Amino acid sequence: MIPDDLEVIDFNRRLKSWYLENHRPLPWRETKDPYKIWLSEVILQQTRVAQGLPYYERFTEQYPTVFDLAAADERDVLRLWQGLGYYSRARNMHFTARQVVADHNGKFPESSEKLLKLKGLGQYTAAAIASFAFDEAVPAIDGNVYRVMARIFGIQSDMLSNEGKKEFWALGRKVISQEDPATYNQAMIEFGALQCVPASPNCTVCIFNDRCFAYAHQMQGQLPVKIKKLTIKHRFLNYFIIKQGDRLAMHERRGRDIWKGLYDFQLIESKSIAATPDQLTNPDPIFQNVLQNGRLTEVPKVYTHILTHQRLQVRFWWLEIPGAERIDLPQGMAFYNHEEVEVLPKPILIDTVLREEGYL
Ligand code: ADE
Repeated sequence: MIPDDLEVIDFNRRLKSWYLENHRPLPWRETKDPYKIWLSEVILQQTRVAQGLPYYERFTEQYPTVFDLAAADERDVLRLWQGLGYYSRARNMHFTARQVVADHNGKFPESSEKLLKLKGLGQYTAAAIASFAFDEAVPAIDGNVYRVMARIFGIQSDMLSNEGKKEFWALGRKVISQEDPATYNQAMIEFGALQCVPASPNCTVCIFNDRCFAYAHQMQGQLPVKIKKLTIKHRFLNYFIIKQGDRLAMHERRGRDIWKGLYDFQLIESKSIAATPDQLTNPDPIFQNVLQNGRLTEVPKVYTHILTHQRLQVRFWWLEIPGAERIDLPQGMAFYNHEEVEVLPKPILIDTVLREEGYL
């Protein structure tokens, strides 16, 4: 179903007129500033527009230029990101801002090829910035666009495989409008978001229903083909919220694990969910001492928290230290008062528990 040149012209004409009539006015579509376009694309990865929009507004207000973002404290960036998930995106974004300032005098490279060399920028994001900001004729193929292409042009290869991807990108390079690649890319994304939606698209009103492979073969539910090789890891986390007065003991998570850079509590991971704290082993004498000096109260609920590759079951105990006497805390931990806890970047689960427990 590779379209010939005339079909490409016809496809582009229809797509553009659909876009001009139907698109949502979104702030990143009103700018040619590569920094703001890049911000929007990082925020919108794995995030719906409705959820991402307020974050885009907050980030562009707080950090109006790449210099502002580069100069920011990582903690503040993570705090502003809180709730969007996939925190490595925020850390990479911050790193990239510094890279753009340090290596490019704060100017984003002006081609998709050079943009690809920046940290955290994949083929899609590099193409999106190059086309939206610099009008380069490169297709920007994200999840929405894979779906639109697979259905209309009948591409049945696995969009997650390398060969499949090559096929989509080759077709994208053929179909993209050379005159107005920016509008073409926005239109494909928007068409996938509004018309060619994942479940139950309303094909009777679709402008392409006379030439759509999926509609002709009633294969909207089968296309695009996505073969997932995802294995989900089950983890059991047991948190002790050490509390003295209004202060909580927290520390920054480090190392190669989830929630890096965010703050959490004393954690013991176990092989299954522990019903009582004495089923958990933690040889740290400092923690044992805190445990002996504190009063334990269980948070009755077991929280289930789903991440992309992990399913967490999480239990919390309050561990209240009476009085105001100084007590040694486990390595890396420090006490933070109520106002400090409020502004520290935290996994959303921890924020939720502190709110449900009436602390925040
Ligand atoms: N999702 C990713 N990029 C987008 C864009 N530019 N407009 C709308 N949704 C998007």
